[in-house]
Amino acid sequence: MALSIRKLHSSFGGEVGPIDLMKVVDEGELAEIRNAMDDYAVLVFRDQHFDNDEQAAFAERLDGQLHTKTGTATLQKNRFDNEAISDISNVDAEGHLLDANDRKRLFGLANRLWHADASFQNPAGRYSMLSARIVPPVPADTQFADMRAAYDALSDEMKARLAGLKVHHSIAYSRQRLGFALSEEEEAKLEGAYHPLIRSFPGSGRKSLYLASHASMIVDWPVPEGRMLLQELVEHATQPQFVFSHRWRVGDLVIWDNRTTMHRATAFDDKTYVRDMRRVTTLDVDRAERSKVA
Ligand code: OGA
Ligand code: MN
Repeated sequence: MALSIRKLHSSFGGEVGPIDLMKVVDEGELAEIRNAMDDYAVLVFRDQHFDNDEQAAFAERLDGQLHTKTGTATLQKNRFDNEAISDISNVDAEGHLLDANDRKRLFGLANRLWHADASFQNPAGRYSMLSARIVPPVPADTQFADMRAAYDALSDEMKARLAGLKVHHSIAYSRQRLGFALSEEEEAKLEGAYHPLIRSFPGSGRKSLYLASHASMIVDWPVPEGRMLLQELVEHATQPQFVFSHRWRVGDLVIWDNRTTMHRATAFDDKTYVRDMRRVTTLDVDRAERSKVA
């Protein structure tokens, strides 16, 4: 199999030609998709009509271990039996639109801040795979930013200044930024994780900026100074030349690499239209170790 890929942006993103991912089980074909992910960082597959279990099974075939405590799952039980399925929707268990004050809705609003999935955990998220089940009749796009191109565009002085810095990521922080109230008990469970600000990829020799709405401070720096630099870097990395938008159709599966991209949801009238998406995220563990971990 040779994947046919149409570029979506000058530096990253590709739309893959007709393929049925449910039937992709062969290791050679899976390796081709992983290689394409290394090149493109975001891949769009059309007409993948997965149910939850099929989506999770594909994610396991492609990248091994699945995250089970991303996003809302950190706070509440989700509406599916499978904790690996993140519920990226604006509906309740009966499929009804969430009220304006619903906690799940307010928690999910933070997806409109630029972020990488599960950066607040260790291991963090590697691939996220978002499947569109119900799409509103108005635009409700997801935007992606190329964090390798953003790194490359930094000055040599800035690259030297950032080398070796470590960042604390916390989902409590990204939620509190919008004034979302966490109980003391919830907050106590969310201690966050530490990751390097610059990530290196030995295979390609490339580097990326590892940023997210969850990035709360730079280790050993005064908190306001760290936040100021993180804010400056997010503004740099999300300039129009590093960004493209994906307009969803039912059946789309979009896979992004959280190590080399950020993403955000865009606003739509979520009190009028249903948008039902399901996400599976894999753990950023060494692929060679996959078979060793149960
Ligand atoms: C996600 C996410 C954005 C969107 O699923 O991780 O951030 O547009 N989604 O729903
Ligand atoms: Mn996300």
